Amino acid sequence: MSAAGRRGLIVAIDGPSGAGKSTITKLLADRLGYIHIDTGAMFRTVALAASRAGIAPDNDASLAGLCADLEIAFVRNNGCCRVTANGEDVTDAIRTPAISALTSAISARKVVRDVLLRLQRHMAREGGVILEGRDIGTVVFPDADVKFFLSASVEERGRRRYLELKAKGQEVSLDETIAAVARRDEQDSGREHAPLRRADDAVDIDSTGLSIEEVLDRMESIVRERERAFPGG
Ligand code: DC
Repeated sequence: MSAAGRRGLIVAIDGPSGAGKSTITKLLADRLGYIHIDTGAMFRTVALAASRAGIAPDNDASLAGLCADLEIAFVRNNGCCRVTANGEDVTDAIRTPAISALTSAISARKVVRDVLLRLQRHMAREGGVILEGRDIGTVVFPDADVKFFLSASVEERGRRRYLELKAKGQEVSLDETIAAVARRDEQDSGREHAPLRRADDAVDIDSTGLSIEEVLDRMESIVRERERAFPGG
């Protein structure tokens, strides 16, 4: 999508699980006054709905029907972004380890990716948005104005996810969590449709050992510079 007819930039943030994408994207969106679209949450919502409906992750016909009847939306509530599925707040229900594992399988299905691809393009059509995911800069918006590839070592990402889950009172071990992150990396990178891949023109940000503020400052200055070159910017 070209810049003409849009009111702001389209910023793509891709990277593996646990690289800090959600935290960074939310804070960067706040700093810039952009809309934040968490595409992982959209895949998670489909996985949750499939799990509740007892649909196996390889049952494409049922998944297609499920997606057709599922309305996913992001709603702001007390300054915090909630995810709803047909009006039900599923923000917490989509973050369990079981749903994370199922989402990895569900997100490999072309039938699901096609539906969410259309929805993501529609949600971002006016610009002034940051989308975070795995294939934003490569498939969803190959012409995005700014592309970042945010990564961190697998140990660091596993450790962060472990602390997150513990803080929510979930019983997990550090080794298991690191292993689960490594498994998801493999699944997300090795799948046939829209695998996790860095876009050739993405700016690499390795957050290992960097504070959130340092990462944000770096990314914000790159977006601000691009904004100045945007029509009307
Ligand atoms: O970012 P996350 O951990 O919430 O993503 C959940 C799963 O969805 C993960 O297995 C990768 C997948 N995903 C994807 O395939 N494409 C995206 N654009 C976003 C997430």
